[in-house]
Amino acid sequence: MKIRIFKDVKAVALYAATITEFVIETNEIPILGLATGATPVPLYQELARFHKGGLSFQHVRTINLDEYVGLGSTHPQSYRYFMNEYLFHPVDIPLDQTFVPDGTAVDLAAECCRYDDIIHRYPLDLQILGIGKNGHVGFNEPGLSLQAQTHVVKLSQDTILANAKYFSEIRDVPTLAITMGMQSILQAKRILLLATGFDKANAVVRAITGEMSTNMPASLLQLHQNVTFVLDEAAASQLSFHEATGMDVIKQA
Ligand code: GLP
Repeated sequence: MKIRIFKDVKAVALYAATITEFVIETNEIPILGLATGATPVPLYQELARFHKGGLSFQHVRTINLDEYVGLGSTHPQSYRYFMNEYLFHPVDIPLDQTFVPDGTAVDLAAECCRYDDIIHRYPLDLQILGIGKNGHVGFNEPGLSLQAQTHVVKLSQDTILANAKYFSEIRDVPTLAITMGMQSILQAKRILLLATGFDKANAVVRAITGEMSTNMPASLLQLHQNVTFVLDEAAASQLSFHEATGMDVIKQA
């Protein structure tokens, strides 16, 4: 595992965008796994800036981690809307090369199978992840078990509360979501987990140095051969370098 600690959110975004650019430029058909939430927004803004400078997304395929059940592409809180807004519309990617689970599918089980077929067709070159304060990745919530493939998940109360800020009322927050499973995430060739801000510091330290447990889904990343935690100083504030001994840690001077 690699840990890269930067002074601020902007530096985190520039580092992640530079790696994403490298993946795009070195693969004939680059396949990116993408995340939503506030954390990756500065990364997508950087990528839009890179695009203005000449980086093309024409050959890129993207596969998003998750989507709320019940929200369609025109709902401003749907993850499809979010992706169109922050990345897909600002760059030159054809929309039919971008995949997000369909939260309005009548048959959700069939939608999960359809999504797994897409994931098998397009093996991920790079997976971008955020992390929930409770340690979730995508919408793989802490619990007694985790699922390997795409599935419908009942959102935890913690997640509903954390995401309520984006909705006018807490009762508007969907209680179900479709998420990619842990196996699909761990099959990516390379993973970048981005975390910024003090409120992520505890989840970050537990994911990196805690025991691997389904109660902390992000801790399963410890199994991956090529994962980098890209942190700002606030998100790294609970990491003790003593505990991280043996890991590849670099801090921006
Ligand atoms: C959301 C998403 C996750 C995201 C996480 C953190 O619920 N499903 O993919 O990583 O919560 O979001 P934020 O970056 O806004 O803190």
